[in-house]
Amino acid sequence: MLIARDLATLAAHRARLAGTAQPLALVPTMGALHAGHVALVEAARQSGAAVAASIFVNPLQFGPSEDFSRYPRDEAGDLAALADAGCALAWLPTVETMYPPDAVTTIDLAGPADNWEGAARPGHFRGVATVVAKLFGQVRPAAAYFGEKDWQQVQVVRRMSRDLHLGVGIVPVPTVRDPDGLALSSRNRYLTPAERALAPLLHRTLATLAATLARGAPAAPLLSEARARLAASGFAPDYLALVDAESLVAIPAARPPARLIAAARLGAVRLLDNVPLA
Ligand code: PAF
Repeated sequence: MLIARDLATLAAHRARLAGTAQPLALVPTMGALHAGHVALVEAARQSGAAVAASIFVNPLQFGPSEDFSRYPRDEAGDLAALADAGCALAWLPTVETMYPPDAVTTIDLAGPADNWEGAARPGHFRGVATVVAKLFGQVRPAAAYFGEKDWQQVQVVRRMSRDLHLGVGIVPVPTVRDPDGLALSSRNRYLTPAERALAPLLHRTLATLAATLARGAPAAPLLSEARARLAASGFAPDYLALVDAESLVAIPAARPPARLIAAARLGAVRLLDNVPLA
């Protein structure tokens, strides 16, 4: 696996890969890789692409009271996992490369970025979109792979790539879950054993609710009942909403394409999950 830590090396490795005539796919990550990230690399490889994965803990997408400094970092483990997964290139830029002191451009978003994570974490999607646009410019992939666990992020990045004519196809990959249903996340390691035992209730709640809503029931009473049940079980629900799957606008009852999305705090960890409505 080729490794680049500066733009000149990245350009040289990129030129070498271009010689293979395979399209290039990007898997953007913040490291602390788990089976969900490996599934992204595998999906990209199955498309026939040479896969570049980036590892960069992006300061711009963390709020001042969020966990940037304690976000898990494991470069050696991540590089071994990417090599095992058949990645062709790992891109590990520095903060100075991504945000030189004289850089003044960030990406302003609306539409699917407005609510939910956008409201709970002001500036978060500006940080995500800005870093993803920079990664697209540096790596210049034909396609980029994102996990559906961050459903809203996928929609935001898709709109950005389309609106800015970046020419990068956005490919969503289904959420990878532990056997009990908990969506894999780099932050799950911060759950205490008691919280970890409780955590799958979020997905169970979404799955049950999705089955009921798919039959056309009005969403509002079912959503507030489910929020109350989660709160009574020990979660601090942030939102639990039935939304249009692309615009992320709340809808009163299921109609395609719809998605149930949720964020809830459990102890120190904010869990995100979502399910489609069949
Ligand atoms: O999903 C993530 O890990 C990050 O938001 C991303 C897409 C790598 C941008 O920093």
